[in-house]
Amino acid sequence: MASSIICFFLLLLLPLTFSEPIRNLYGTRARAPTVQQTGHRHGREVIVDNGIIRVSFSSPQGLITGIKYKGIDNVLSPHLRARGYWDITWQGENYRGLDRIEGTNFRIISQNEEQVEISFYRKWNIGGSRSHIPLNVDKRYIIRTNTSGIYTYGIFERLPEWPQVEMGQIRIVFKLNSDRFHYMVVADDRQREMPTDDDRDTHRGHAKALAYKEAVQLTHPRNPMFKNQVDDKYQYTCEIKDNKVHGWISTKSHVGFWLISPSGEYRSGGPIKQDLTSHVGPTAISTFISGHYVGQDMETHYRTGEAWKKVLGPVFIYLNSDSTGNNPTDLLWEDAKQQTKEEVKSWPYDFVASSDYPSRKERGIVTGRLLVNDRVITPGKSAYVGLAPPGVPGSWQTNTKGYQFWTKTNEAGYFTIDNVRPGTYNLYGFVPGFIGDFRYQNRVEVAAGSKISLDRVVYQPPRNGPTVWEIGVPDRTAREFFVPEPYKNTMNPLFLNHTDKFRQYGLWQRYTELYPNHDLVYTIGASNYSQDWFYAHVTRNVGGSTYVPTTWQIVFRLPYVNWRGSYTLQLALASAARANLQVRFNSEYSIPFFSTGTIGRDNAIARHGIHGIYRLYSINVPGRLLRPGTNTIYLRQSKASGPFEGLMYDYIRLEEPSRD
Ligand SMILES: *[C@@H]1O[C@H](CO)[C@@H](O)[C@H](O)[C@H]1NC(C)=O
Ligand SMILES: *[C@@H]1O[C@H](CO)[C@@H](O)[C@H](O)[C@H]1NC(C)=O
Ligand SMILES: *[C@@H]1O[C@H](CO)[C@@H](O)[C@H](O)[C@H]1NC(C)=O
Repeated sequence: MASSIICFFLLLLLPLTFSEPIRNLYGTRARAPTVQQTGHRHGREVIVDNGIIRVSFSSPQGLITGIKYKGIDNVLSPHLRARGYWDITWQGENYRGLDRIEGTNFRIISQNEEQVEISFYRKWNIGGSRSHIPLNVDKRYIIRTNTSGIYTYGIFERLPEWPQVEMGQIRIVFKLNSDRFHYMVVADDRQREMPTDDDRDTHRGHAKALAYKEAVQLTHPRNPMFKNQVDDKYQYTCEIKDNKVHGWISTKSHVGFWLISPSGEYRSGGPIKQDLTSHVGPTAISTFISGHYVGQDMETHYRTGEAWKKVLGPVFIYLNSDSTGNNPTDLLWEDAKQQTKEEVKSWPYDFVASSDYPSRKERGIVTGRLLVNDRVITPGKSAYVGLAPPGVPGSWQTNTKGYQFWTKTNEAGYFTIDNVRPGTYNLYGFVPGFIGDFRYQNRVEVAAGSKISLDRVVYQPPRNGPTVWEIGVPDRTAREFFVPEPYKNTMNPLFLNHTDKFRQYGLWQRYTELYPNHDLVYTIGASNYSQDWFYAHVTRNVGGSTYVPTTWQIVFRLPYVNWRGSYTLQLALASAARANLQVRFNSEYSIPFFSTGTIGRDNAIARHGIHGIYRLYSINVPGRLLRPGTNTIYLRQSKASGPFEGLMYDYIRLEEPSRD
């Protein structure tokens, strides 16, 4: 609380500590960061300068208003007021909206030779502003000596007696200088020159609106190279496990701006949850909590009586530059990836002041070996295992409130989950090639400094009998199925000849063209799922805006039937959006033998995702429903008010009755 008094109209220079000037990579003189507080007519400002970057914050709001770097006065957009900010989308009893959580209290947490940490804090009071979410929020920024960037984290807390609230999304957003940044990088194979915000303007006729507002066709872009391309930010989403660094490059100034996320612990929804990254603006986002690709199933509700506290971040906003004069994109991207490795290696950071952020020695380690028992015991190799708040198997997919710690097993199934915050967890997992969700039977209590060895943990995936037939591979996505070619006049050339063919706009419409009158029929033994199983079970357009349900058939022969036995249909879904899947055996028009009921709001079909959240249905099929010879399973998705109701299958398997 020491230095919270700031005088208006006063230029106040706090005591400066100078260390020996050091030279950074590209020759700028680095020094211990200084903090300067200024007041003028337009408000107060805090400026932190370490000789490499100079960062301005509105005070006490704590919005980043300027980043001066390498002769660029502001890498952020000079035109927008909100250009570097945290925000929350929320809904209370009488209010819904977006809260930029502007601080009301500025203070310096620490300042020394090595770094400055500052705080912009907002405390919530019953009876306070209606448009403020009931949360105490402490936004922290750390600027270090000889470091070309800004660390930021937030401490979010609600007290149990506060009103109930829905909290859908928490993120940090940067709007960059559009004169400078045109080249965007999300991954090695996802980077390109980007159109501008102005090119997306449908009101001024620069672009044409498509099936939903996020997707536009660039009909009159300033740069003719983009003509008729589709732009949609959801084409650049990433799974959390891969979403460690993304950003923008100014090819003119040879400067890169990157958001580095060294850990997944503070995100939500587990390692394969997808979220936005960078997109037209130029915009770069780091998301902590969101419903993207999950929808209403995401855990967003906080009831009265419920306390919550979570540290989000730190993430690292990294700037780099290159003066070699060649095309800088490869160099800057390679350097950004290298820097990401450094950040991951130094996680958990030892320079974070908040006691809510445990240091390495205050965290624990959990090790073990995952085996899979699917009739025979094999190592659970290349599986994801993770600690997440206690819940039912798979509950990590929708969990936002707690911390999650995930890792991948090696070829022999061994795993080490390190840097785990003290707490009570379940150990969860999923194994490529096997259906279902693993959860270890006992809870795992992690204490500071503890090293817990679970030895062997065995996952027994659901199975009631030998496989009769199967479609697809159990990998929680629809990737292996038939993904059609994009429409020539509405495509993104980035995804031509690309492993992620599914990221093109409009693919769902291809179903109606491929199956104009009759739905998909898949014959076991003759059909090939990579050619004959459409990646999404969508509705059919029958003209105008009218859509009808579709019924897919799986045709198979059985040489004999065990009448008294119970077969099992293992039906794994990779995605569902307002869908109701009805399953019938050998009778297309009877009452459905099984229905999922209305499920899912993950919107993966419209968002060019190849999966949303995973669901497995193990359906018991009495032998009397089957017959020797030809059988047909009818899969009817019965909801059809538009193009986007539907689902994606991950994998389907018919099992014989158990032989024991
Ligand atoms: C400053 O940072 C650069 C780049 O990370 C590094 O090479 C150099 O050794 C650092 N200098 C000091 C004195 O820490
Ligand atoms: C498609 O990608 C492959 C592998 O990356 C490459 O060898 C080939 O040249 C590409 N083809 C076209 C037409 O770009
Ligand atoms: C199925 O189709 C894919 C893609 O065309 C092909 O690579 C694969 O060999 C086919 N499988 C069989 C069993 O024919």
